[in-house]
Amino acid sequence: MQIIHTVAELRQWRKHAGKVAFVPTMGNLHQGHLALVRAARQHADAVVVSIFVNRLQFGQGEDFDRYPRTLQEDADKLKGEGVAVVFAPDERELYPHVSQDYNVEPPHLQNELCGRFRPGHFRGVATVVTKLFNIVAPDVACFGKKDYQQLAVIRGLVADLNFNIDIVPVDTGRAEDGLALSSRNAYLTPAERAQAPQMYAMLSQMAAQIRGGRQDYANLEAVAVANMQQQGWQVDYIEVRHADTLAVAHAGDKQVVIVAAARLGKTRLIDNIEVNLD
Ligand code: PAJ
Repeated sequence: MQIIHTVAELRQWRKHAGKVAFVPTMGNLHQGHLALVRAARQHADAVVVSIFVNRLQFGQGEDFDRYPRTLQEDADKLKGEGVAVVFAPDERELYPHVSQDYNVEPPHLQNELCGRFRPGHFRGVATVVTKLFNIVAPDVACFGKKDYQQLAVIRGLVADLNFNIDIVPVDTGRAEDGLALSSRNAYLTPAERAQAPQMYAMLSQMAAQIRGGRQDYANLEAVAVANMQQQGWQVDYIEVRHADTLAVAHAGDKQVVIVAAARLGKTRLIDNIEVNLD
């Protein structure tokens, strides 16, 4: 496994690499990321994992400065996973002009759900993923369903800008108690960590009600928000949306996803469950 830090070296390597599957990350890798790597391996001759904490996708007052940077540990974890290249550029390599003058602007979806609470976030994601796609030139790229809205943005980006890349979605990796694995879980106090599985429990309960025939989504959402608030969460949103488009779901939709974001203390957690009503 090689660790490559520059665009030029990565491009040189790419010339002889055959079919490449790509897993973009911000590092501090956990089992959820490793599931993406294992999925990637099934699709190509060589797997590239990028590790880059992308300033553009963090808002003012968010955790860019304290985001855990653990390149050595990450590389150790990837060694046993059949990864060909870890691409770990520093900031100046990807953003040599400090500011990024040309950006990729997602459609209105970027202002909904998480976008309402993180202005500019999906623009930052779409921009860095475009850069990484142009550098790595993969045949396949794997993204986690954990970040469901991000996956929808990337799918739209690839379709509308004609990237010749197959996007492979990968199921959410969870701890035994149901909590979706996330680098941000490390910010939770022990008491918050004990409470955190309530989010997936709430989503599971809603999914069961929807499978049981409930279609009054607005009521379900309102009750779920109130319940979570009562348990001490600050809820950004809990919503039922159409699974493919993330448009607001209506009674009769066959594929829906329940998406949620809420804070415990200072830590913001997101999760979702797909519900197939076919
Ligand atoms: P990061 O949060 O490091 O996540 C990298 C990839 O791992 C994303 O596709 C994410 O959805 C996936 N992932 C994270 N936790 C997961 C889990 N529990 N189960 C399955 N997949 C999981 O997402 C980003 O980085 C960045 O926005 C990035 C795409 C790299 C652009 O900067």
